[in-house]
Amino acid sequence: MTKNIAVIRGDGIGPEIIAQALKVLDRIGEMYGHTFTYTDVDMGGCAIDKYGDPLPSEMLEKCLASDSVLLGAVGGNKWDTLPGHLRPEKGLLRIRAGMGVYSNNRPAKIWPQLASASPLKAEIVQKGIDLIIVRELIGGIYFGEHKTEGDRATDLLTYTEAEIERIGRIGFETARKRRKKLCSVEKSNVLDSSRLWKKVLHRLAEEYPDVELNDMLVDNCAMQLVKDPSQFDVIVTENMFGDILSDEASMITGSIGMIPSSSLGAGSCGLYEPIHGSAPDIAGKDVANPIGTILSAAMMLRYSFDMSAEADCIENAVSAYLDEGCRTADIMSEGCRLVGCTECGDIITANLKR
Ligand code: IPM
Ligand code: MG
Repeated sequence: MTKNIAVIRGDGIGPEIIAQALKVLDRIGEMYGHTFTYTDVDMGGCAIDKYGDPLPSEMLEKCLASDSVLLGAVGGNKWDTLPGHLRPEKGLLRIRAGMGVYSNNRPAKIWPQLASASPLKAEIVQKGIDLIIVRELIGGIYFGEHKTEGDRATDLLTYTEAEIERIGRIGFETARKRRKKLCSVEKSNVLDSSRLWKKVLHRLAEEYPDVELNDMLVDNCAMQLVKDPSQFDVIVTENMFGDILSDEASMITGSIGMIPSSSLGAGSCGLYEPIHGSAPDIAGKDVANPIGTILSAAMMLRYSFDMSAEADCIENAVSAYLDEGCRTADIMSEGCRLVGCTECGDIITANLKR
């Protein structure tokens, strides 16, 4: 198969981690007889520097014309003082909305080799951590009206029933393919938007009698994630709660650097990105962990290109790399071998076996 992938290297460590993922994809192409072509897309701080716009419209067009988009990371201190609509992050939000990818899937799973990298106590980790956060990605407070007037600033959090229903369905469908437990996370003791969320989720539950639905307030969920993450299978939640909880969920598995994500809408063209940021403090030093990006590429093969054997092959190669005791600095522990970003990509590429 031939697939055209739009590649957004972005800022900070973005270019380094993307280079490793492309190396892996090229080798997968050779092994399985696929051709992956790459179209570079400028987005984020680098696009602000070049064009004065974090996402010029022709860049979005390139993404829409592709079979899927692979993104490194965007942002950095350099652009922190720009007004909201000109920040690198705005490019990311515009690409998500422009592609209509409302469903963001963030798996947090403990790799057995990394159990000791989790900050949680061993007895908690031993119970198992294998959950997915299904985050609504193109609605809520991220996309409501933002305004500052004098000494007052406002950000509006709005959801319609239709927006809640389509992400709710993804939550139920995801749970159905797993351990059939769905936790709907909201703040219905305070927010109207959350009360609507809860109502729609319960209405949907009638269509999914095989899935067990429970409700959890977001503050309690933040606590339960560190108290006993083994209780969770699939969490479905609105945009900002999902942003916050997915950082927390990633850390309990050892490192945010390991976690990939997929964002999908109506079609098969998806946006795939690690959940971490551009880490400007370590950019250009060849020390970043590229695994979140490499695993995002694997998700792209699995969910957008229907290449599950190829995706398994990448995941197995990552596992073999960890078995060999190789670690980037973020997950380094005693007795392991410290490797850099490029070497990590080389080892995982060499580990690809059919
Ligand atoms: C994420 C990031 C983004 C978000 C930022 C960079 C806008 O934190 O993907 O989790 O908040 O969605
Ligand atoms: Mg985030």
